[in-house]
Amino acid sequence: MAFDVRRVRAAYPALADGYAYLDGAAGTQVPAAVIGAIRGAYEGGLGNAGGAFPASANADAITVCCREAVADLVGGDPAGVVLGPNMTTLTYRIAAALAATWRSADEVIVSRLDHDANVRPWVQAAGRAGAVVRWAEIDPVTGELPAAQYSGLIGDRTRLVAVTAASNAIGTRPDIPAITTMARAAGAFSYIDGVHATPHGPVDIRALGADFYATSAYKWSGPHVGAVIADPALLASLRPDKLVPSPDTVPERFELGTPAFADFAGVTAAVEHLAALDDAAAGSRRERVLASMAAAEAHEQRLFAFLLGGLDAMGHVTTYGKAAARTATAYFNVAGRTPRQVAEHLASRKINVWNGHNYAWELTGALGIRESGSAVRAGLVHYNDESDVTRLLDAVAELA
Ligand SMILES: Cc1ncc(COP(=O)(O)O)c(C=O)c1O
Repeated sequence: MAFDVRRVRAAYPALADGYAYLDGAAGTQVPAAVIGAIRGAYEGGLGNAGGAFPASANADAITVCCREAVADLVGGDPAGVVLGPNMTTLTYRIAAALAATWRSADEVIVSRLDHDANVRPWVQAAGRAGAVVRWAEIDPVTGELPAAQYSGLIGDRTRLVAVTAASNAIGTRPDIPAITTMARAAGAFSYIDGVHATPHGPVDIRALGADFYATSAYKWSGPHVGAVIADPALLASLRPDKLVPSPDTVPERFELGTPAFADFAGVTAAVEHLAALDDAAAGSRRERVLASMAAAEAHEQRLFAFLLGGLDAMGHVTTYGKAAARTATAYFNVAGRTPRQVAEHLASRKINVWNGHNYAWELTGALGIRESGSAVRAGLVHYNDESDVTRLLDAVAELA
């Protein structure tokens, strides 16, 4: 393993501005290669898809490459990669298509751990179909989402289990294979929100048992593009609303309107960047992605132990979540200050963090902190280094 954070950081022009970017969970910075790929797509001549001239062929080729890259990132089939503007839009789209097959008294399971983008589309679709919504609860002390509860939630009428592979607020990584195994045994589909999980380690959607896996490239060094990955045969079984003349093939059937072709080129460059995070990674792009993301995860987790240890040692700080498996995402409050005041103080020390519920609406409600402004989130990604963490700890210590 050869993870060199200085080399990684040098790839990101924005990191030269002197700020500690601990806001990666809300969107990462992008490396020069991604910016170059997007620029290159425009400079190379870019038409709409499906035409008889070279600039149109460029758009077609960029789209094919993008599907292959996303498939390599998560271990999927390029023919099952649906591309779109972001995860939320795609999830509403898939929810509408799936809900068209639901009947009254069918059941849908969502969780209190999830970002609202993997809750509300299902709750609203269930409401329209007359389906029943059942809730998986968190343990408010540990922040775990115990998988065992799903055996009592999943039954003959369950049509869908929507659950996150990692919490965007407290980092909890639920036991997804255990949950999807139960769902599949009951004949229900699983919709796994991989938006927060994908940047923090290797992903294998087959090992997860995910029927649908959603991710967003802007969380892993790419542009603002979302993707849902599924078995092409499953996608072919669904009939989303679409325009009559638009392609009825899969995955195009799920893609509305003209997409951001140039950004797709940036997505491919982002996957190439991730595949090269570990200098020593070798083999196919999929193999290099797996090795590099494992190296990045080890780097993040080393720094996270330092970050959490520092926060937990401060008497004026309360941290939330202590799941056994979690991403390098800290969520905390400082006594006597609102989360916004803390974020403003940190900004004055050139540290970027988020304050608030971060759309973890049910979770912050379950933790009892939503009404008071929730908490401050400091999240690590592969380009963060020890000086980012030291700066955060020093600035939080000033608030004692
Ligand atoms: C865990 C998680 N799920 C879903 C979303 C929504 O993603 P998008 O912005 O691509 O719609 C986010 C965004 O922050 C997220 O963190």
